[in-house]
Amino acid sequence: MKLAPSLLAADLANLLPALEQCEAGGADLVHFDVMDGHFVPNLSFGIPVLEAVAARTRLPIDVHLMVNEPDRLLDAYLEAGADWVSVHFEATTHLDRVLSRIREGGARAGVVLNPATPVELLVDSLAHLDFVLLMSVNPGFGGQKFLPHVLEKTRRLRRMIEQRKLDVAIEMDGGIGSDTIDLAAAAGVDICVAGSAVFGHEDPAEAIRQLRRKATRDNS
Ligand code: DX5
Ligand code: ZN
Repeated sequence: MKLAPSLLAADLANLLPALEQCEAGGADLVHFDVMDGHFVPNLSFGIPVLEAVAARTRLPIDVHLMVNEPDRLLDAYLEAGADWVSVHFEATTHLDRVLSRIREGGARAGVVLNPATPVELLVDSLAHLDFVLLMSVNPGFGGQKFLPHVLEKTRRLRRMIEQRKLDVAIEMDGGIGSDTIDLAAAAGVDICVAGSAVFGHEDPAEAIRQLRRKATRDNS
């Protein structure tokens, strides 16, 4: 299981220690949540903060764009240092073009699905994706409760990927902690995002290590 701590739950006035804790805990990616106040009813941070964060970590940055029409600022995110970029299926009119632009910009391309959006809608884009991000809460806020019904669609997506022998990773985001990461792992998730479970812990680096142990032990 790969782990992507979400900076949304870190001390936003002091992100450098959070980046250091991600590195010390052996995180695989840093998850960076962009919200536009339209697609989701909340605002977070954007391109200047991404640029600053990318300059201060050696970890790849996983940019989750919770914005309408993400193509409008896509090049700026890529130039600011996004290594992985995911756009919401529900917010993107020209998905095929957006995915091509992400890959042409040198990043890994992903699509995010809200809890109620079926994985079967990806049948014609799966071969052009590096990863699918399944939301296990309704996006917009950290600290929400995990929605267990997404596990069934995770298993369906895993089958779609395996039947076609594709190399597409499954990432899950929302409500992941020591009580849910084993469920995600068993359903076929490759990468877990965790915000409050990491940065709400008194020792975030240790929280990352504990989550990884929990996912690995229960899935082995
Ligand atoms: C929610 C964000 C998540 C959030 C997860 O809209 O996309 O990445 O930071 O936070 P937790 O892990 O606290 O649910
Ligand atoms: Zn996210």
